[in-house]
Amino acid sequence: MRTRPQNVVTENARLVEVDTSHWFDALLEHTPLRPGPLAAPPAGSGLKPVIGDRGLPFAGLGINTVRHGPAFQLQLMHRHGPVSWWQAFGRKVVAASGPDAAREVLTNKDKAFASGWPAVIGPWFDGGLLAMNATEHLTDRRLMQAAYNEDALAGYLRRMAADADAYVARWPEGREFAAVPALRTLSGQMTTMALLGVPYETEGRKVMAAIEQCIRAETALARLRVPGTRWHRAHRARHRLLTHLAGEVPAARMRAGEDFLSVLSRLGDAFGTEGIARHMLFTLIASHDTTTTAAIAAVYFLGKHPEWQRRARAESMALASMPPGLARLRGLGTLELIVKESIRLVSPSPISMRMTAKDTDILGHFVPSGHLVSVCTAVNQLLPELWPEPHRFDPDRFAGSRGEDRANRLAWLPFGAGPHKCIGMHFGMAKVKATLDALLRRFSWSFPATYEAPWRFTSLPAPSDGLPVILRERA
Ligand code: HEM
Repeated sequence: MRTRPQNVVTENARLVEVDTSHWFDALLEHTPLRPGPLAAPPAGSGLKPVIGDRGLPFAGLGINTVRHGPAFQLQLMHRHGPVSWWQAFGRKVVAASGPDAAREVLTNKDKAFASGWPAVIGPWFDGGLLAMNATEHLTDRRLMQAAYNEDALAGYLRRMAADADAYVARWPEGREFAAVPALRTLSGQMTTMALLGVPYETEGRKVMAAIEQCIRAETALARLRVPGTRWHRAHRARHRLLTHLAGEVPAARMRAGEDFLSVLSRLGDAFGTEGIARHMLFTLIASHDTTTTAAIAAVYFLGKHPEWQRRARAESMALASMPPGLARLRGLGTLELIVKESIRLVSPSPISMRMTAKDTDILGHFVPSGHLVSVCTAVNQLLPELWPEPHRFDPDRFAGSRGEDRANRLAWLPFGAGPHKCIGMHFGMAKVKATLDALLRRFSWSFPATYEAPWRFTSLPAPSDGLPVILRERA
């Protein structure tokens, strides 16, 4: 097994190599791999078997996945190539890594790949675009596009940027606090007026708490609807949310507001009230944790790289007299580079999950129907053949002449690719920039040179220590 030295000494090394400096990880590295084929290819097909690792009985290499995320998948790719498989908690998952394998699966030319999310996380995306397939998906996505056009985004961002300023003003100065929960709460505070037209302080807080219940249930191992369990509580929260959102649709349609629910409700009757509620619920789920994770990553890297923080702040201050919103955010070119690089290194949604709808192959490797396929998009963002010194935080790699992201269209994939590519990409980038712009204009912060965030990958990536930070009045 490829191991790394006992001590992490290089910047972001544990994002690209499995870190064995903790005794538990050193022990995990000695897990027997028990390699073997996924399935025998049909006789005469000329296809090769997918080779992968079974690992421990039942758990397989699931714990390695949670602790090391993309670094574990890079290791798998080094062992078996761009198409492999591993067992995680009783399931065999095919890993498609590197640009060629990602292209084959995500573009889905042969219609062999359906959404794999419902099979992995449960019913939490049901009725949302990411759980839909084929014509139903295409039809709903086309209709929803109008809720993401330039005018609609300008409306959402006016509100979000103003709310970011207002809520960040309440953050503590001069004492240590955990940035992860604070940024998660801020994401909710920026969401409820812009997406639902309700203030966070009253109704919004309850809605976001219920959304978080659904999000946390996605990774539950115990999935019985037994009262008292996380799974059961999340089901009840989802039911309440759907009823509540459906009840809001008629008023949202009438008020001609700038919020997402109002815009979506005016798109016509094609979805029906229940359909709007389901799309709205998925939009809330899809937008909340992803943008939070992107903001966490950027806060971390800005704290590690004061020179970039100064550059970004200078730009934010220069535009501070402009009204909050899309136009001002578009002027923040340095921040754009910083966010792109932050989500290259720590991809908020590091895999795209698919399920084979029929027997197929990936790069000539046989994958039978009914198998989960994880497109390891974050792996592509860390490959040395696509990104020189991939572990280094270097936002300029996205700038003008270098444009390392443009050399291969499947190299930078934080928002996925193909028919399910994130429809909220511009919205998401703008929201994260609004968060950082508000922080930069008010505070400065730094992390010790020796500090390396302990990223974990149970759900979306997050530092397990909550990212302790001390904010200082802007220097
Ligand atoms: C930095 C923030 C974000 C990241 C990194 C992100 C990432 C992604 C990724 C990787 C996918 C595709 C997943 C797959 O192929 O399996 C996706 C899909 C989606 N995202 Fe985002 N997202 C972000 C923000 C948002 C926001 C703000 C919204 C809405 C307001 C949103 C709504 C959606 C929707 C509706 C889909 C499903 C699209 C479809 O299936 O056609 N996302 N996102």
